[in-house]
Amino acid sequence: MQIFYHEGSRTFHLCNDSISYIMTILRNGHLGQLYFGKRIQDKEDFSYLLETCERPMTSYLYENDRTFSLEHIRQEYPVFGTTDYRQPAVEILQENGSRISDFQYQSHEIREGKPGLRGLPATYAEENEEAKTLIVTLYDAVSGVRAELLYTIFALGGVLARSVRFFNAGGKTAYITRAMSLCLDLPDCDYEWLQLSGCWARECQIQTRNLAPGISSIGSMRGNSSHEQNPFLVLKRKHTDERQGEAIGFSFLYSGNFRIQAEVDAHETLRVLVGLDPETFTWKLAGGEAFQTPEAVMVYTDQGCNHMSQTFHRLYQKRLARGYWRDRPRPILINNWEATYFDFTEERLVELAKKAKECGVELFVLDDGWFGARSSDKAGLGDWVANRKRLAGGIAGLAEKIEGLGLKFGLWFEPEMVNKDSDFYRAHPDWILSTPERSASHGRYQYVLDFSRKEAVDAIYVQMAKILREAKVSYIKWDMNRSITECYSAALPPDRQGETYHRYMLGVYALYERLTSEFPDVLFESCASGGGRFDPGMLYYAPQGWASDNSDAVERLKIQYGASMCYPVSSIGSHVSVTPNHQVFRNTPLHTRANVACFGTFGYELDLNQLTKEELEEVKEQIAFFKRYRRVLQFGSFYRLKSPFEGNETVWMAVSEDQKTAIVGWYRVLNCVNASYTRVRLQGLHPAYRYRNARTGRYHYGDELMHVGLLTSDETAGQVPDGVEPYTDYESRIYVLEVEET
Ligand code: DGJ
Repeated sequence: MQIFYHEGSRTFHLCNDSISYIMTILRNGHLGQLYFGKRIQDKEDFSYLLETCERPMTSYLYENDRTFSLEHIRQEYPVFGTTDYRQPAVEILQENGSRISDFQYQSHEIREGKPGLRGLPATYAEENEEAKTLIVTLYDAVSGVRAELLYTIFALGGVLARSVRFFNAGGKTAYITRAMSLCLDLPDCDYEWLQLSGCWARECQIQTRNLAPGISSIGSMRGNSSHEQNPFLVLKRKHTDERQGEAIGFSFLYSGNFRIQAEVDAHETLRVLVGLDPETFTWKLAGGEAFQTPEAVMVYTDQGCNHMSQTFHRLYQKRLARGYWRDRPRPILINNWEATYFDFTEERLVELAKKAKECGVELFVLDDGWFGARSSDKAGLGDWVANRKRLAGGIAGLAEKIEGLGLKFGLWFEPEMVNKDSDFYRAHPDWILSTPERSASHGRYQYVLDFSRKEAVDAIYVQMAKILREAKVSYIKWDMNRSITECYSAALPPDRQGETYHRYMLGVYALYERLTSEFPDVLFESCASGGGRFDPGMLYYAPQGWASDNSDAVERLKIQYGASMCYPVSSIGSHVSVTPNHQVFRNTPLHTRANVACFGTFGYELDLNQLTKEELEEVKEQIAFFKRYRRVLQFGSFYRLKSPFEGNETVWMAVSEDQKTAIVGWYRVLNCVNASYTRVRLQGLHPAYRYRNARTGRYHYGDELMHVGLLTSDETAGQVPDGVEPYTDYESRIYVLEVEET
């Protein structure tokens, strides 16, 4: 991993074993992009890559040079309004009403390691040898604004992290109306676009399309990163698949409004922009003030999408998630939500916990409904005090009982919200986001607290911290159940209203930071009605997230498969729930529900006391299996082998770090009569290791399993031979492959 600067050609070259990123200082002082891709040798001068020619109907910066038009130059941080007609990365509104700026190179600095981003989630380096950072300072002399472009190259793979820090070094006020975290101008547009889209209970659906002239974009203006579009994009070559070919993944480490777009111009070059949604953002930058954009991460590979995903998984598992739980296997939990909803008594909870303990569960989570006047979703949010009618001994009392059973205790909060029917709202009616003289809309009868106000965040902190100090709480599920509307802060002046959405997010992050620092052993799980904020910003504070309110095993195949494009299995919250399922009313076998959920954090969300004796025995076995293989399942290398978006079967697998254990999950949605013979080629095994297939008792070498494949044919073929269990719809199998120690 190195960062070169060649004075003669004014060229920067960031490289590691996997990638090269090359840029140069252009004639006008702006930064130009020369190359991003597979690692190439360094040399003094790559300026030939700056292709320009004289073109009609173009505007030029210099009278003596009819080739220098920014419209035709690949740039690093393009500005608005001067010879480049594509969408810019930055726009600064100045006191005289102009939005033109001219960010010219001023200086640069190369640092070991990676600096943190104040108040924002970011990837990090633990040792200086893990990363190097280049900070290029650009300056717009007229507005007096400085832009520091941060580029961090990691040793761990084809990763480049980017962000921008603005500083107003002049005396005049400037308004940042667009501040993208990343711009990547590529020399061609021969890519397929892959995004993760959906809606509530149908998150992370893989959608692909071809790029065409004009702008393709995804984003959110909902105040959360959203169920609708995950802040993640892949650009892959037409023939790239999971196992081979070029792909570039873009991920935005932010949990609020964002925009990711790709613009194909008339000459088939491509501009990718990743950052805060410009539509819902402006930031007043008075003299002496600074503004830091959130971070964006790019991953390049020439080894297919699965390799790109594994790079993201490693980075996000090891150098985004933090703290006590980062590397630890996650506890198997039981959550009472789908078991009881709001209809619980302390006695019922304890009965559920007892049964869970009998089965081997490790953590009991009390979901919504334990506080204030909450007996439905119409009241109580904001009053984070136990309802003594339901929980006579308060949270401390219940936690003690649960701990007494030998389980850890976890608790649900929705810190950012209030119901109007709450003491908190009655005391602070002006602390919700709402626009003067306009009515405030609700979502699920709740209103969004103005987290851009420190006093509002502090007041929620005080309530939460009190509970965490008084009661033995080992886990928090932090929910967020509505999108933001009428986003206006009564605490901000008119010319700062454009900051509200982002200040809100900074407030959320500040509360997370405070609680995770003060209670470092508590495991946080983020949630926003399932996957409404399933993003890398959250992962910095909460190493796992509830991926979807849809707990149906078949639906989960797509959701978890899609999520795995960017997010590690250890971050994907997934539970076994009851059938008929509460979202799609489908009946799936208990083993299939567990076989899907075990490729995630794993837990249960049903009333175990309603299960039959046989079912409880099965649950015990599932838990014992998960405990045995949890480390491989959650922290092993994850391979996608067959996509649920492309057919009736899904196959994925996890391989342990030492390659001695592999767990393959095979799932078939609909049964089919007289089915074809099927086999699937595995990946990531050691070619020379001899694995025992626990299902068949046969032995196979790794190369055999990877090149010949694992046989997954259905032995029943419509006529069930004696002694063979017939398969049904929603069938699944787990194959454990282990090298036997001699
Ligand atoms: C939405 C979450 O996603 C559910 O799991 C549950 O916690 C409910 N909120 C509670 O209101």
